[in-house]
Amino acid sequence: MRGHVLVTGGAGYIGSHTCKALSAAGFVPVTYDNLSTGNRWAVRWGPLEIGDIGDTARLGEVLRRFEPVGIVHFAALALVGESVTDPALYYRQNMAGTMTVLDTARSVAQPPFVFSSTCAVYGTPTPGQRLGEDQATTPINPYGASKLMVERVLADYGTAYGLRSATLRYFNAAGADPDGEIGEFRANETHLIPNAIEALLGRKPALSVFGRDYPTADGTAIRDYIHVSDLAKAHVRALERLLVGADSFTCNLGTGVGLSIMDVIVGLERLSNSKVPFDYEDRRPGDPPELVAEPAKSREILGQNLTENSDSETILRTALDWHQSDFVGRLLSAPKP
Ligand SMILES: NC(=O)c1ccc[n+]([C@@H]2O[C@H](COP(=O)([O-])OP(=O)(O)OC[C@H]3O[C@@H](n4cnc5c(N)ncnc54)[C@H](O)[C@@H]3O)[C@@H](O)[C@H]2O)c1
Repeated sequence: MRGHVLVTGGAGYIGSHTCKALSAAGFVPVTYDNLSTGNRWAVRWGPLEIGDIGDTARLGEVLRRFEPVGIVHFAALALVGESVTDPALYYRQNMAGTMTVLDTARSVAQPPFVFSSTCAVYGTPTPGQRLGEDQATTPINPYGASKLMVERVLADYGTAYGLRSATLRYFNAAGADPDGEIGEFRANETHLIPNAIEALLGRKPALSVFGRDYPTADGTAIRDYIHVSDLAKAHVRALERLLVGADSFTCNLGTGVGLSIMDVIVGLERLSNSKVPFDYEDRRPGDPPELVAEPAKSREILGQNLTENSDSETILRTALDWHQSDFVGRLLSAPKP
């Protein structure tokens, strides 16, 4: 046993896959989660401690009891549109909430810290340009801004208090655990792939495709999808680097390959032999035409084989298998609490 790792948001999509990867690497993940968007059933590889990241007393008690060797911090709100209409909520949860975690940890032992950041810190890049970490950070919504503020806090805490941290700017997390044990499941789903699958399976009338006049080959927006199990592995490697004494670092987690919305639809139709019903709608404000990572720095810092599950076929196949599983069928037919 290599020690406990506190995983805030460990009941969520990326957090639960990371708990599985941490456990496989010999750590015991301790999930700290208020279950606002996460799922109790997704916590399978270590204890669940229910609590809010804003609750200093509860967090302090959990930190003192488990004495984690590291903290992986996922807990956040992540809906861009909601962040525009309710920025106070986003700055309080994502910025002030993270500061509560950092300050509580500092009052205990200040273990190394791995932070879920996002490509939303980059704002609207020039189409056709892969985004490196040195790209200007000019977020265009409060969600991205709240994450960038935390990045600044981490840098200043590093200088002043010696905190060592890894900032991981993810592009689009996608797919499901290849063993079928966990996957993406939210009450209020906004992500493309699960919504396309729900439409394909007839659980939703049609997928909304936002924008058909982007300056891309088929007119739909392009994103860089990275498999959630590859993201999970990257978190374990980032933590391991900090545990052997590495200085703080920031890197992108993406593949360097972009897929348009239409590529995703066609890929799902080919794999399933079914049609994805969809309607075109207007572009959403704040949706850039194209977001694709330059992944060279992440490979240099975190090693090779970081994206071995992130080809489009594996992403779409694992997501389809998950959404078609008996387990998800039972979740959907269970009475709503
Ligand atoms: N999904 C993506 O494509 C993506 C891309 C870039 C960055 N991110 C970041 O990754 C992280 C995880 O995203 P996800 O897709 O797994 O989301 P998710 O909603 O599935 O997981 C978030 C988890 O945090 C918990 N949580 C939220 N607020 C909390 C609070 N105040 N106290 C305690 N727990 C709280 C939720 O219950 C949930 O279990 C977030 O920080 C998000 O900003 C996600």
